Amino acid sequence: MHIPDITIAIDGYSSTGKSSFAKIIANEFSFLYLDSGALYRGVTLFAIENGYIGDDNTINVPELDKAMNNLDIHFGPEGTYIGDRCIEKEIRSMAVAGKVSPIATVAEVRNFVDKKLREFGKNGRIVMDGRDIGTTVFPDAELKIFMTADPLVRAQRRADEMKAKGMETDLQDVLKNLQERDYIDSHREVSPLSQAEDAIVLDNSHMTMDEQVEWLKSVIKERFGL
Ligand code: CDP
Repeated sequence: MHIPDITIAIDGYSSTGKSSFAKIIANEFSFLYLDSGALYRGVTLFAIENGYIGDDNTINVPELDKAMNNLDIHFGPEGTYIGDRCIEKEIRSMAVAGKVSPIATVAEVRNFVDKKLREFGKNGRIVMDGRDIGTTVFPDAELKIFMTADPLVRAQRRADEMKAKGMETDLQDVLKNLQERDYIDSHREVSPLSQAEDAIVLDNSHMTMDEQVEWLKSVIKERFGL
């Protein structure tokens, strides 16, 4: 299916399958997929490894802010990179998941990530997923989807995904982490997770991926008169 040169913004709660959905759509329409959460996760890994966030999640904002001036984080063939080091596996760990939402509350971090995202997405024909893409990063996106699903369904999906990657997982830990992140993400001061007024809600608790893709295609056909 050929669709116009639009920007598709996909926001929503943790582990609703945004990135899997976004990747499939990007493939289907020959769009570029950009995972904004990966950049927040990458900054979090960087902060952990360099001691800018403590065990109690206290963040040394001035030092982190200064260090981000030299942080070369970007996407490459195997996912997310810092310089030429692929960090894709590390950023999906529970250690990073446990600290990413506090890091993502920091205004300086959000400015840093927003700048990168706008630069990476400036040529259009992109699908970007996150928490504030339709509200803050690309408020003019022509198509905005807001994804949600039952928390237990989401936790089970994320635990299965981690297990498939050979990571140790406990369903209750995963559930607790996603509920904590949803809370912090929805209540932070800067760009909280919220549904854009012009976003369409997709609750995929009881939908297969194929059903979601079909649903999106029908939305696009109707919206763009194809
Ligand atoms: O994959 P999952 O939905 O669990 O999360 P993610 O997209 O990898 O994002 C990880 C975390 O980054 C989120 O819980 C948010 O705290 C933060 N984030 C954000 O604040 N704004 C975005 N646009 C994307 C992610």
